[in-house]
Amino acid sequence: MPATIIVGTQWGDEGKGRFTDLFAKEMHLVVRYQGGHNAGHTLVVDGETFALQLIPSGVLYSHITPVIGNGVVVDPKVLLDEVSMLEERGVDCSKLKVSGNAHLILPYHQLIDRVTERHLGKNALGTTKRGIGPAYADKAARVGIRVQDLYDPKMFREKLTLVLKDKAPMLAKVYNQLSPTVDEIADVYLNDLAPRLEPYVADTVNLVHEALEAGQHVLFEGAQATFLDLDHGTYPFVTSSNPIAGGAGPGAGVGPRHIDRVIGVAKAYVTRVGAGPFPTELFDETGAAIVERGHEFGTNTGRQRRPGWFDAVMLRHAVRLNSLSELAITKLDVLDAFDEVKVCVAYEVDGKRLRHLPDNQSVLHRVTPVYETFPGWGGDLSGATEPGDLPVRVHDYVAFLQDQVGVPIRLLGVGPGRDQYVQLRA
Ligand code: IMP
Repeated sequence: MPATIIVGTQWGDEGKGRFTDLFAKEMHLVVRYQGGHNAGHTLVVDGETFALQLIPSGVLYSHITPVIGNGVVVDPKVLLDEVSMLEERGVDCSKLKVSGNAHLILPYHQLIDRVTERHLGKNALGTTKRGIGPAYADKAARVGIRVQDLYDPKMFREKLTLVLKDKAPMLAKVYNQLSPTVDEIADVYLNDLAPRLEPYVADTVNLVHEALEAGQHVLFEGAQATFLDLDHGTYPFVTSSNPIAGGAGPGAGVGPRHIDRVIGVAKAYVTRVGAGPFPTELFDETGAAIVERGHEFGTNTGRQRRPGWFDAVMLRHAVRLNSLSELAITKLDVLDAFDEVKVCVAYEVDGKRLRHLPDNQSVLHRVTPVYETFPGWGGDLSGATEPGDLPVRVHDYVAFLQDQVGVPIRLLGVGPGRDQYVQLRA
């Protein structure tokens, strides 16, 4: 299985990082293909917690080359701070590679993200305000500045001058904000950040293909998740890239025939950060208990996540969109405390029952979830390591989920620790 993609199947924060970390044992390269430091991976290794934003989770293994692909938007300061933080804690980052074709997040991107969100008022998307959308917008408008431009100072200044010609007056006149000048940005990016980033800059497409040609295992790691996908998510309440498995193509430079396995990660319930439709959202004590037991607060932003029951309608769609070959379920232990556990199996709207996600989002806003209710298992799963350690009720629940979504469930996460999981199938 030389090439595997791992994707989130809900609205993010499914705990992909912990499974990426698990699979990383067999991998040579772990490649991120989209997103930026809007992502947050929390890994617990030997009781120590690591919160990563940009560097692929595989960095914690010395045999792995962590790769930031061309599809990622990179804030070099954040990246270098993350490298320093890891190195201070004894993690060697010398193998890290960053694509020269990745686009840079520049100070005006963050400024634009902040002011446009404020300007939208009650219609705000709830972005992470990290400049992700504005950086991808510039990429699509062909005025983006790439990592490689840092090493051509004349070109960097020319591009920056051109882009600020539009953006500085727009920020001043529409939003009453002062943009940093060309000289201010160039001074930091060219004189400070560029030389420190240089050792990591590489031709990552070549690196990935050399690894695949040598029969090495490559793991492509999606950030965010299926329903935050720019094309297939709940637009406009989405991120500005393609987290779905197909995003690995443009974001890392591989074709579909290279991919052997696509692992979807889903929480045993659902959470969402920011605005947007959420059919199974819970506003009651059960929701509050999920947030508390699951520590459902953003890794980076600290925002409380919105909780809800597992939604098999969404998952069926995620199976289709990503060509999932299998599923890993995380945070099953969070449901230990509940007397009953619900699974949404269909939606009802306008007197009709829908098994599949409606294409029209106005309809999605009006659906009522149809639930199947299971008795809770009344036990602590956090110590389970083998299928035999799980109560029959958990097996029944998992078998039901599997039947609903139509792909094998291979792994169950039962706690945040690196070893707190149960493998159901080889
Ligand atoms: P942006 O990616 O910062 O532009 O935010 C767009 C939407 O994606 C917002 O609803 C964010 O809350 C959401 N989002 C972005 N990154 C993550 C993530 O890593 N986990 C969960 N939600 C995210």
